[in-house]
Amino acid sequence: MSKEMILVLDFGGQYNQLIARRVRENNVYCEVHNAADFDKVREMKPSGIILTGGPQSVYADNASLPPAEIFDMGVPVLGICYGAQAMAHVLGGSVQSADVSEYGKTEVEVIDTTSKLFAGVERKSVTWMSHTDRIVNVPEKFKVTASSHDCPVAAMENESKKLYAVQFHPEVVHTAEGMKIFSNFVDICGVSRDWKMSSFVTDTIAKLKEKIGDGKVLCALSGGVDSSVAAALLSKAVGKNLTCVFVDHGLLRKNEAKEVADVFGKFDLNFVAVDAGERFLSKLRGVTEPERKRKIIGEEFIRVFEEESKKIGAVDYLVQGTIYPDVIESGLGKSAVIKSHHNVGGLPDFVDFKEIVEPLRLLFKDEVRQAGRELGLPENLVSRQPFPGPGLGIRIIGEVTADKVKIVQDADAIYREEIARAGLDKNLSQYFAALTNMRSVGVMGDGRTYDFAIALRAVLTSDFMTAEAAQIPWDVLTLVANRIVNEVKGVNRVMYDCTSKPPATIEFE
Ligand code: XMP
Repeated sequence: MSKEMILVLDFGGQYNQLIARRVRENNVYCEVHNAADFDKVREMKPSGIILTGGPQSVYADNASLPPAEIFDMGVPVLGICYGAQAMAHVLGGSVQSADVSEYGKTEVEVIDTTSKLFAGVERKSVTWMSHTDRIVNVPEKFKVTASSHDCPVAAMENESKKLYAVQFHPEVVHTAEGMKIFSNFVDICGVSRDWKMSSFVTDTIAKLKEKIGDGKVLCALSGGVDSSVAAALLSKAVGKNLTCVFVDHGLLRKNEAKEVADVFGKFDLNFVAVDAGERFLSKLRGVTEPERKRKIIGEEFIRVFEEESKKIGAVDYLVQGTIYPDVIESGLGKSAVIKSHHNVGGLPDFVDFKEIVEPLRLLFKDEVRQAGRELGLPENLVSRQPFPGPGLGIRIIGEVTADKVKIVQDADAIYREEIARAGLDKNLSQYFAALTNMRSVGVMGDGRTYDFAIALRAVLTSDFMTAEAAQIPWDVLTLVANRIVNEVKGVNRVMYDCTSKPPATIEFE
């Protein structure tokens, strides 16, 4: 692996991992470290440094500021938002609080078209701004290279020292020329752009090997993308010292348990599959309230996992498939509990272990999928849509019974098959069949039926916080409906849910 890397010093802004991701998209290895870790700069010998945005003001008593020596190392530095102000302040320029905050899409004009940071960038383009403080005087030997209506110093630089600063956020998609700007900074850093996701995989395996040695590792495998990729990485690092416990709560999609077992049966690890379907069903008997169901499934899951892990005995490490968006979400303040999301990751209280390992903590979902491909996981697992921890338990309205699980599994399998056949699967964020608890009258052959109605759902969303119902072509919907009523016993009606979130949610419970 190339040793070249760009170091992101994190001053606490919202988009900081996005900066790392933009660098990685340029095939350059990148790590994000706390801005207080200046020692990292010496230790890691980066080819470039990015100072991120952050909520502080450079004049605050406890403002975290980069030491001046960072700007004298001959290493290119890009300051973004607060990082730009910190660069100006430390090098003798001045920063002031503006009368008006600049927030949102803002047109910026490149004043100095010879700037290497803006090479090939449109002279006027839309950027994303989010600041109140701004640079008013640039440090000595710096020149202003771009400005906006409310921000005379939208960008500044000292070309000979390779110091660059932008007030806007090139990392967010709203900055039209953001990718170009990152690409230009990578060129300024003179790195070779030879880093690939395969390098992340080999490097992570090597680091895990070194860290874990002969230690014993335990992983709760859900069959979802994140825990599967984490398990595959650990398997390559420690082989049979990794035990993966896969709890089949009987509420998985059709054939899913077998698919997971087939994939992980081929990996070098101890794979323990627990068929606990009966146990979950008996706990769920007579229960209709959604949150109660979630709680029962979550608790039972932990109990089963705990029993299995006791058989293994004490372990040194517990693997979690935490990915970067989980880190951001858990950092958010309290919001109203609409649904208590049971996440199979949260088990540590019940298992005797020393430390948690989270090898995917810095990656975004699509990067995790890419890593999974590199590790040889099959495409159907790697590109899987999200599936809730409580599984079909919350896609069956009302009481969960074995018959209802079978109905929803069969209907869902048909729906997924036809969506894939129509080539729509890659464009939908999440789609599934749910069993309404409603029965209605139908006619089949010459007889009257009184059977269940299946609801089909398909949504488009980027963050799952809000979503719109996808417009599935009518011919696909009618084909699915026909197949379901003909092939799935106990169903005589199929409906399509065209509600957005809010006011509905994605799942039915
Ligand atoms: P809702 O239904 O809240 O779903 O709009 C948003 C996203 O979260 C998933 N979801 C869950 N995931 N445990 C999970 O692990 C849960 O209890 C749960 N409930 C909803 C849902 O599938 C969607 O992706």
